[in-house]
Amino acid sequence: MKEFHDLADFTAEEIQQLLDLAARLKRQPEPRALEGKVMALLFMSPSLRTLASFQAAMHRLGGGAFVISPDMSIHGLETRPGIVMDGMAAEHIREAVPVIASYADVMGIRAFAERRSLEHDLADREYQAMRGLVQLPLINMESAIQHPCQSLADWQTLDELGIPRQGGRFVLSWASHPNALPLAVPATTVKMAAMRGMDVTVLRPDGFELPEAIMQQARQLAAASGGSVTETDERAEAMRDAHVIYAKSWSSTRHYGDKLADAELRRQHEDWCVDEDWFATARPDCRFMHCLPVRRGVVVADRILDGPRSVVIQEAQNRMYAQMAVLHAMLAGGSKP
Ligand code: CP
Repeated sequence: MKEFHDLADFTAEEIQQLLDLAARLKRQPEPRALEGKVMALLFMSPSLRTLASFQAAMHRLGGGAFVISPDMSIHGLETRPGIVMDGMAAEHIREAVPVIASYADVMGIRAFAERRSLEHDLADREYQAMRGLVQLPLINMESAIQHPCQSLADWQTLDELGIPRQGGRFVLSWASHPNALPLAVPATTVKMAAMRGMDVTVLRPDGFELPEAIMQQARQLAAASGGSVTETDERAEAMRDAHVIYAKSWSSTRHYGDKLADAELRRQHEDWCVDEDWFATARPDCRFMHCLPVRRGVVVADRILDGPRSVVIQEAQNRMYAQMAVLHAMLAGGSKP
């Protein structure tokens, strides 16, 4: 495997191989599999889980990792093409990325959405510019519209919980948040659940519809896997017989890039904080998922996060095992995608 960028780049069989490998590495450590290998981690945007889990994954497989981020003691990094560099940044990604890559065997890049133009973010322009500068095996650690490592870990978690693929009811719900957040997690999550063959409902207030291009791709993936994808603002109906609710906030697509209009619209939906009454029509054992970080009392009530429905820690831990599988497949031939 040369690249891990979009789950939809892989067949169902290839995803299954990665999931089997992740499960095997969780059961049966391979502390020498990546001996002598080095991973470069370039974080243009902040992180806790991705930063820690990739370093832990490399160490657990016998390799090492180094981290570069603009917040560290490095020269400011410019990402815009064709810019006259007379501002603060002293180095351009066109030199910095190949230099960083030259020290490593595999590279991961994180670059969040700018959230100024939906078209720009759907095209994933900043990540694509850096992707074009790397010849090494490359892992997308979250870009404007992709978060494949999160989704592979979430798929692993759903399997561990015994949540059915065919017939499994998955609700991806918008939730309240003070900020206009990127679309990467909801876009990747709806595709993951569709590829898994689940019946997926996107629950969101008017104005927060997922982009049609994402929904169309998710519907095509669902058609191929035997699942389905629908969208609604009717909470009780969406939650009926649900096996899992995956909460996440995202920017208003109606007002994308317009901070004031987005803020005004999201203020009207501050009651979209997941609490026990959301589960009235769901299966009694309906689970709560979230990629983290999560704002307590804003996105979800403490009693849900601290109660038996929540699997957020398991999801976060599986980030490490899912990424170990990807790294193993790329550098040690542990899987054949
Ligand atoms: N879920 C996730 O990617 O977490 P971080 O932003 O902390 O890496």
